[in-house]
Amino acid sequence: MRKGKPSGTSTTVAFWRGLNTLGVTHVRGFTDPFAVDLLPPLPGYLLRAAGLLFKRFPGAKDRFLTGSTGMIDMIALRSRAIDASWADAFEAGVRQLVILGAGLDARAYRLPKLSEVRVFEVDHPDTQAYKRQRAKRLHSNAAVHSYVGVDFSMDDLARSLRNAGLRTDERSHFIWEGVTHYLPHAATAATLAAIRCVTAEGSQLVATYAEPEGENPSARTRVRQLIFRWVGEPQIGLLERGHMAKLLTEAGWHVARDEGADDLARRFGGDPAVASLNLRERVVLAEAVGRRL
Ligand SMILES: C[S@@+](CC[C@H](N)C(=O)[O-])C[C@H]1O[C@@H](n2cnc3c(N)ncnc32)[C@H](O)[C@@H]1O
Repeated sequence: MRKGKPSGTSTTVAFWRGLNTLGVTHVRGFTDPFAVDLLPPLPGYLLRAAGLLFKRFPGAKDRFLTGSTGMIDMIALRSRAIDASWADAFEAGVRQLVILGAGLDARAYRLPKLSEVRVFEVDHPDTQAYKRQRAKRLHSNAAVHSYVGVDFSMDDLARSLRNAGLRTDERSHFIWEGVTHYLPHAATAATLAAIRCVTAEGSQLVATYAEPEGENPSARTRVRQLIFRWVGEPQIGLLERGHMAKLLTEAGWHVARDEGADDLARRFGGDPAVASLNLRERVVLAEAVGRRL
């Protein structure tokens, strides 16, 4: 991330969720009506303009979808899967939700039935300051909605969550969406261990990670890597599936499910061939088992 600047990739994914909401996806049952409010002014304006364009030329939606080589559908897929994991946790009685690397995530505003739920949004202080400014006009129905500023590479996350009022004797549901890609592996391992320290048995973590393409990445991947570097958020944290499972296990998490675009598309719709065209992103659900480390 660029010093003193909010994350640019958080704006990009919020923009895509805004496009999903305008119908630019084949995924069923996902919308984020607050994405447009949280976006910076220019992307917010462009999203509204896209809405007008689609009213006049509905066929343009498919062009956007194809042009994004799968990124836009993958965002809807991963969001849908994460929302479903929270809905299951809520049904099972979990009432603490921790959103790690929240960016412009609108879950604190858009999820239903939050009136008994304590929501903690954790993010890099620079991104979070911007999010708070954008979210001023929005209202969260959560019982508690706390912002916790943390740099995963240097700060004490466990202490910050305790100080923010997380109840460590209660189960929590952790969401970590689209963040590990940008972190050194050591910071990912430290974050997994830190949240396990403040987590009661039976808590769950749902996280996304992306697999590297191997020794000879495609031209499209090379261009994507250059763009991420150029915006100051290089994808230095790509992880093989086995590596992610190892990091989770070492931190005291048990992998319950690990899905790629094809598995997710079977559950929620979308074209798996398109969704996996770009980044090989996966969604892993893990459970806190045994005693804390
Ligand atoms: C691609 S955005 C994803 C945001 C959000 N989870 C979503 O899916 O919309 C990446 C997020 O990771 C956060 N991030 C990156 N490096 C971080 C660090 N070292 N400490 C804390 N947050 C970090 C950024 O601030 C940003 O919010």
